Amino acid sequence: MYRTNTCGELRIEDKGRQVTLAGWVQKSRKLGGMTFIDLRDRYGITQLVVEADAPAELVEAATSLGREFVIQAEGEVVERQSKNAKMPTGDIEIKVASIRVLNKSVTPPFTIEDESDGGDDLRMKYRYLDLRRRPLRDALMLRHRVAHEVRNYLDAQGFMEIETPYLIKSTPEGARDFVVPSRMNPGQFYALPQSPQTFKQLLMVAGYDRYFQIVRCFRDEDLRADRQPEFTQIDCEMSFVEQEDVLGTFEGMMRTLFRNVLGVEIPDPLPRMCWYDAMDNYGSDKPDIRFGMTIHDLTEVAKGKGFGVLDGAAYIGSIAVPGAAEYTRKQVDELTEWVKRPQVGAKGLIYIRCNADGSFKSSIDKFYGPEDLAKIAAAAEAKPGDLILVMSGDAKRKVQTMLGVLRLEMGGRLGLRDPKVFAPLWIVDFPLLEWDDETQRFYAMHHPFTAPKPEHEGWFYSDKKEDLERVCANAYDFVLNGTELGGGSIRIHNADMQKRMFEVLGIGPEEAEYKFGFIINAFKFGAPPHGGLAFGFDRVCALFGGSDSIRDYIAFPKNNQGRDMMIDSPSSIDDSQLDELQIRLDVKEQA
Ligand code: AMO
Repeated sequence: MYRTNTCGELRIEDKGRQVTLAGWVQKSRKLGGMTFIDLRDRYGITQLVVEADAPAELVEAATSLGREFVIQAEGEVVERQSKNAKMPTGDIEIKVASIRVLNKSVTPPFTIEDESDGGDDLRMKYRYLDLRRRPLRDALMLRHRVAHEVRNYLDAQGFMEIETPYLIKSTPEGARDFVVPSRMNPGQFYALPQSPQTFKQLLMVAGYDRYFQIVRCFRDEDLRADRQPEFTQIDCEMSFVEQEDVLGTFEGMMRTLFRNVLGVEIPDPLPRMCWYDAMDNYGSDKPDIRFGMTIHDLTEVAKGKGFGVLDGAAYIGSIAVPGAAEYTRKQVDELTEWVKRPQVGAKGLIYIRCNADGSFKSSIDKFYGPEDLAKIAAAAEAKPGDLILVMSGDAKRKVQTMLGVLRLEMGGRLGLRDPKVFAPLWIVDFPLLEWDDETQRFYAMHHPFTAPKPEHEGWFYSDKKEDLERVCANAYDFVLNGTELGGGSIRIHNADMQKRMFEVLGIGPEEAEYKFGFIINAFKFGAPPHGGLAFGFDRVCALFGGSDSIRDYIAFPKNNQGRDMMIDSPSSIDDSQLDELQIRLDVKEQA
C-alpha cells in the first residue's frame, strides 16, 4: 500500500496514529538540526518532520530530497509546536520514521507554489507542473463540481445525455470552421462542430425530447480571455416548448448551480431585459447590471447651439460618472486618449463637470451656457459631483457601443465590478436579422435555425428591408456580469420556413440544399416544435471562480495564438501523410 491517507486529510484527532503518506516534495528546510518537508498531493499539504536525533540514514535521506521528488513517508501523527491556522492540516505534523524516494525530479522550471514565479509561456509549456499548483487545482475542482451539478439537475428534469459526432459538416454559428481532411475521400473535408446545433435538432425530430450534452465545440476565431478555439458547451434542446418553458428550466439550472456550488441565491425570477433596452441603456447586448451609470440620449437636448460636431450628429449619448467631477484636466485628457484607442474607436470625448456647488465646467463652454448645460445635465440624469461624458456620431448603435465600453471601463475604475457580486439576467426579444452594409445582406443574429416571433411572421415573408429589420425572434441570452454565458432560441421546425430563412440570408436554393438539405429534409418527417440553448461551460466556471479568463479553468488550453505550447501544436505533418491525403501545400510567407 502506497498510502494510508492523503496529504489533506489528517487533523489533531488523528494524533498518535501511524500513517503512510505519498506525494511531492513542495519544499524542505533545515531548522536547528531538524528537517521539515512540505509534502503535497492534490488534497493538500502535510508537514513532515525528521528529528535531529533520528537515525543518520534518515536524516541523510531527508536532506537529500529535492523539490518535486515523489516520496513515501511513514510515521506518527503528532501535534505541532507552532501551529499554522492557514492550513487545514496545520495543527499536526508527521514525525517521520522512514522515507522512500519513489521518483526523483529535475529542478522544476518555476516554483510550484500558490504564487508562482513562472511567466505565462513557461507555465503553459509545463502545464502539467502548473496544474500541480493549488489555484489551478481548485479551478479544475470547481469545473468538476459544476459539471456534476449540471448532470444531476438535468437528469432529474428528464434530460438524456447523448453524444453527437465531431467529424461533421460545417455548422453555421458564424465563426470559421476547423477542417479535417478525409483520406478515404480525397479532396473532401470534415468540419469540426462549432456546436452540435443541427444534430440536437435532429434528435428532436427523432423524438428525444429532452437532450443535453457537455460537449466540445471548435471555432477558428480570434482569441480573447473568454474565447478558446476549442471550448465546452452545456448544450440543451427540448421539444414541445415555448420560450417560457426553456427560460424556466435553465433559470432553475443556474439557480441550482449558484446555490450548490457557490452558496449564492440569485433573484427569483431573474430580471429580463429586451435587447433594444440593453443596447439603448447599456450599449451592449450583454449588460453588466452590477452598477448603473446608464447611457442617456441627448440627441434632442444637445443640438442647435452652433457646435458642428453635435449639430451634425445623428445620435448623441452620455454617461454620468459619479464623483468624477473632480477629475483633473490630465485625467480627462487620459480618458479622451483612452476612447481614441482602436479597441474603442471614438473620435473624441466631450466632458461636462457638474460641480458640487451646482455650477458646470465643460469642454464645450464656448457654445453652451450654464442654462444649456443644466438642461443637458438633467437629460443625462447627472448629479452634482458627476462627470458627464458625451459621445456622438452618425450611427446610433455604434456610439452606444462605444459608450458601453467606456461605461465598463469607468465601472472598473470605480471598483463597481466586484467579481464576488453576481448580477445575472436574461436578454430577450433579439432582432432575428442583422443588416450588414458592407456585404449588403442580412445575417442571422443568432443562427439561421432561429424562428421569427409568430406575431412577426408577416414581416418575415415581406420583401421590404425595413420589415425584415423589424422581425424579432424568440431568442434569449443568459448574461452574467457583462459576459454572455449562454444563448438559444425557439427554432424553425417547418421546411418551408427554413427555406425562406435561407432565402432571406441570401443563401440560394442550391447552396441551401448542399449545406443543409439534411435538416430541411428532416423537417418534412414530423418535426416537433422545439427550442433550446447552450451555455459556455468554461465561462460559467471562470465567472463562478471570480475570473474573466477561461484558460485557468481548462486543463490544457491554447494560448492567444491558438497554440498548445506544451505539445507544440499546431505543427507541420510528414510529406507521407500529405501524400496519403493527396494534399499539396502552398504556404505563403508570413508577414
Ligand atoms: P452560441 O454561439 O451563442 O450558441 O454559443 C453558446 C455559448 O458558448 C460560449 N462560447 C464560447 N466559449 C468559449 N470560447 C468560445 N470561442 C466561445 N464561443 C461561444 C458562450 C456562448 O454564450 N448552438 C447555439 C446555441 C443554441 O442556439 O442552442 C450556440 O452555439 O458562452
